[in-house]
Amino acid sequence: MIPDLSSFDAGTLVCAVGAAGSGKSTLFSTMPESSIVCLDELRLRLADDAGNQRVTPQAVRMQNLILRTRMELGLTTGVDSTNVEERVRATVLKPALAHGRRTVAVVFLTPLETCLARNALRPANTRVPDDRVAWQHRQTPRSAARLRREGFAEVYFVGVADAASGRGA
Ligand SMILES: Nc1ncnc2c1ncn2[C@@H]1O[C@H](COP(=O)(O)OP(=O)(O)O)[C@@H](O)[C@H]1O
Ligand SMILES: [Mg+2]
Repeated sequence: MIPDLSSFDAGTLVCAVGAAGSGKSTLFSTMPESSIVCLDELRLRLADDAGNQRVTPQAVRMQNLILRTRMELGLTTGVDSTNVEERVRATVLKPALAHGRRTVAVVFLTPLETCLARNALRPANTRVPDDRVAWQHRQTPRSAARLRREGFAEVYFVGVADAASGRGA
């Protein structure tokens, strides 16, 4: 079921978990722009190029600062990045847990073929290598199994039907 992002309490952390092209940014586009952190946008801001991986460390620092600040202020925040690694999610979760915020993960189970087809349509600078998309895709169900233990209080799945229709089931 696709969660209604506007229904969450103030201060909720909403963390996407999904491969490139799985539909993360599309879902988050229903939230106010200032409530989303997205590494692509931060790289664009830093380097005029959303795909410039050389500035990823700086973009991650900005993402962490934004998250820490917004969690402290009690502002709902969506993390529009792949987040398929536990180490990365731990960094995202930390400020939310530190401030006792509601923690929500949204897992994108979009089929690999769909992710690859969408990725292929992207401009070259933001296209992710196919083997990387496949790796992210493999990590997604593995991640899903761990999310509650890591500290996510709620886990939603955006499934095959949702991904095809763009609507909640
Ligand atoms: N539910 C959906 N139905 C149809 N097209 C979608 C859907 N979700 C995403 N797309 C399309 O797929 C492409 C990639 O989606 P995007 O949200 O940018 O993925 P991500 O942010 O996970 O990389 C976009 O061009 C978007 O229009
Ligand atoms: Mg995106």
